[in-house]
Amino acid sequence: MKTVILNGQNHKGSTYHIGRSIADKIVGENEITEFYFPRDLNHFCAGCYKCIEDMAACPHYAEKKTIIDAIDAADILIVTTPTYCMHMSAPLKAFFDLTFDLWMPHRPMRSMFSKRAVIVSTSAGSSTKHAIRDVKDSLFNMGVPKIYRFGTAVHAMNWEGVSEKKKAKIDKKTIAIAGKLSTSKKPSVGIKTRFMFMLMGMMQKKGWSSSPVEVEYWKQNGWLDGKKPWKE
Ligand SMILES: Cc1cc2nc3c(=O)[nH]c(=O)nc-3n(C[C@H](O)[C@H](O)[C@H](O)COP(=O)(O)O)c2cc1C
Repeated sequence: MKTVILNGQNHKGSTYHIGRSIADKIVGENEITEFYFPRDLNHFCAGCYKCIEDMAACPHYAEKKTIIDAIDAADILIVTTPTYCMHMSAPLKAFFDLTFDLWMPHRPMRSMFSKRAVIVSTSAGSSTKHAIRDVKDSLFNMGVPKIYRFGTAVHAMNWEGVSEKKKAKIDKKTIAIAGKLSTSKKPSVGIKTRFMFMLMGMMQKKGWSSSPVEVEYWKQNGWLDGKKPWKE
């Protein structure tokens, strides 16, 4: 199994610890690769749209490629973000902006449709649901069919400040999530993903895409002739 952890922060606080602990508890051989934002992608999308024609034309392609290749090869994605001002962290948002060309309306990666993902967010006291929703929107639109969520208010500014009682509760939850991830079975693809993929295919067929390059990509994959990325 290959697991990629995308950390929406450079530091190793509560959010990082929970994400890493899920990865460490996955049963069987598991190669773990971690990225940290902004450390590994310290840029914002400039809105040049060059990626729409050619992914490699993005000014930040060299850095992005390393991360995207790792994601492509992974079975499991763990995305962590502290809840900042009720939402995901800015560096994580920047990462998702810089990879928007991998969304279903553009050129989704085939491999995404057979991955499992976990989103982890911690807050001091407020709800983590908006931060988790932010990440879920991106992962869903990239094609990931199975997404687990773990949000918790830790009432602390760092991992050291989290009470032992809370840590014990977190531990139980991470064991449960890791258990669900410890399978080599392909995840089933739900109705929402199927519907979105069908809609985006229709859009490509009608020529409503952002570029002819996208139509060609969908054609080459056979997706305009009935092939499905999750069945390949
Ligand atoms: C810039 C910033 C914004 C924050 N916004 C919120 C918030 O909206 N709601 C909340 O409950 N906690 C908020 N917090 C607290 C963190 O979410 C909380 O301490 C979290 O557990 C930190 O995770 P970490 O240890 O991984 O850094 C904020 C902290 C910072 C630094």
